[in-house]
Amino acid sequence: MPKVGIYSVFNFAECDLERPIFEKAGVEMIVCQNDDDYRAMLPEIDALIVANLPVTADDISRMGRCKVIVRQGMGVDNIDVGAATKRDIAVCNIPAYNIEEVSDYALAAILTLLRHLAFYDQSIKYRKVSQYAAFPIMKRFKEVSIGILGFGKIGQLLAKKARPLFKRIMAYDPFINREKAAELGVEVTQLDDLLASSDVISLHLPYTKETHHLIDRSAFAKIKRGAYIVNAARGGIIDDSALLEAIERGDVQGAVLDMTEEMEWPKLDNPIYNNLLIINTPHCAWYTQEALDTSRIVAAEEVVDVIQGRTPVGKLN
Ligand SMILES: NC(=O)c1ccc[n+]([C@@H]2O[C@H](COP(=O)([O-])OP(=O)(O)OC[C@H]3O[C@@H](n4cnc5c(N)ncnc54)[C@H](O)[C@@H]3O)[C@@H](O)[C@H]2O)c1
Repeated sequence: MPKVGIYSVFNFAECDLERPIFEKAGVEMIVCQNDDDYRAMLPEIDALIVANLPVTADDISRMGRCKVIVRQGMGVDNIDVGAATKRDIAVCNIPAYNIEEVSDYALAAILTLLRHLAFYDQSIKYRKVSQYAAFPIMKRFKEVSIGILGFGKIGQLLAKKARPLFKRIMAYDPFINREKAAELGVEVTQLDDLLASSDVISLHLPYTKETHHLIDRSAFAKIKRGAYIVNAARGGIIDDSALLEAIERGDVQGAVLDMTEEMEWPKLDNPIYNNLLIINTPHCAWYTQEALDTSRIVAAEEVVDVIQGRTPVGKLN
């Protein structure tokens, strides 16, 4: 009987959503929640489902007969896809299960920054600033320009939701879909123009060698003074120390970061988590009951597809 290993960071050890799918397909489940059990199961599994656990070349070399690794999510930067491909192991993600959630999060972040909600909350709770003269002045939404970096599924859905609220929506993407941009009333720009003209820049691109530190010191030097940044994509696209410097200079007025360069659980002495103008969240932009359930069901279905010889929807290599 084929076996699927599930490394779960969630407390659903019974795997009630996956179980009926695997039982029907005649696949045995091994659920583990720690690294020792994970390593022990690698030689005997035919398929692996993981969320954020790094799957290294070394892990892949221990896999005796694995045919597929499914990332319960969109980005696969925690999996060594090259090493998997060399071993003829399919790597799959779960396409589009959370685009509603992440675009909602980005919109919520943009609105929160523009209305300085965190600042005003903190000014009451901790700082007791009660003079209008000391408050950061706000801009009417109808006068605000939004720049979307990465005009894929999430960037496009954000544009659709944001279009009725703001003056301009701009987008930069080297592979931009111009028809879609025109249909959504989005101006296609070059990167430098977007940086210079946006009141809020929202990132929706993958983290790759090419996008590593795309927003670095030289990008911050081009940003419109007083702009805000939202990163619901990946840490590493922004150079965190350059962001802190830009905030210190007042070039950036605030940021919402769902991820930072520190990919693992936050070390709280890192200054990126201790700046009152930065709102940090722990990679939760996608996290709704609906998205979680969909990701679990689709991951199980993709495993069954591979085991039964079909090509799964999320195959990437
Ligand atoms: N925070 C979360 O919970 C969460 C959840 C899901 C996805 N994400 C992140 O959001 C990102 C976007 O997701 P998506 O579903 O829209 O992906 P997508 O593949 O549909 O779109 C990504 C877009 O980025 C563009 N791009 C690539 N390189 C670029 C560059 N240098 N500059 C500008 N654009 C570039 C691509 O051409 C593509 O259109 C994912 O890569 C993932 O890392 C985060």
